[in-house]
Amino acid sequence: MQNFIVGNWKMNQLSEDIKTFFKTLEENRQELKDKNAWVAPQHIHFPLVREIATKLGIKTGAQNCSHQEKGAFTGDISPAALKDLGCDFVITGHSERRTIFKEPDEIINQKNRLALKNNLEVIFCVGETLEEREAGRAEEVVKKQIFEGLKGISATEMKKMMIAYEPVWAIGTGKTATPLQAQEMHAFARTLLKELQYPETKIPILYGGSVNPGNVAELMSQTDINGALVGGASLKAHDFIKLCEAS
Ligand code: PGA
Repeated sequence: MQNFIVGNWKMNQLSEDIKTFFKTLEENRQELKDKNAWVAPQHIHFPLVREIATKLGIKTGAQNCSHQEKGAFTGDISPAALKDLGCDFVITGHSERRTIFKEPDEIINQKNRLALKNNLEVIFCVGETLEEREAGRAEEVVKKQIFEGLKGISATEMKKMMIAYEPVWAIGTGKTATPLQAQEMHAFARTLLKELQYPETKIPILYGGSVNPGNVAELMSQTDINGALVGGASLKAHDFIKLCEAS
């Protein structure tokens, strides 16, 4: 399985930043050849990003979507509207959505199902907090998130799904999980996928949390790590290129 590098840009750039980013990527397009590079900008930048990204073979996705098909949900964006704009994928269950926006597993599950129904690929995030890890509850937490988040999703639908293991304590903190810690949790997640009767070896499991050009190669060399979901480092064009090169 080829590794994936997915940039989660969060709420950071303005359009000029995006143009500058892609100018550098275009100048180094050779480095991106045959790589699985994906980016998720803010929704509003989607058409701008998509136009340039497609030329470079980069997939464009959303950082979030509504759990509802349509209707009176002021400010929300439906998976159908994303698909209509040519969106390739959506990130669900990110820890910032879980904690800041209080999204429970049930809503995340609805998002997963609706996104798949609308033919979007899904990067479904799970991960424990530092408190949960220190209390020895990391596996229990991830198991619940995976079991609840994947309810009602068939083995066929899972072909459009990736799991991203992102320990909350490693996100934006500069504290990466050691390759061994990450590998252990990825292997555990794979056993859960097997338990759920999915083709577990075919489902990519990405690692996320302070991935950068300096640590990406060692993380990617682990048996059960199939790519990285990257925040901070993915905003810098040269770092993004290096991440892709190392993947
Ligand atoms: P980070 O973010 O790489 O800045 O730690 C990762 C993420 O939140 O997906």
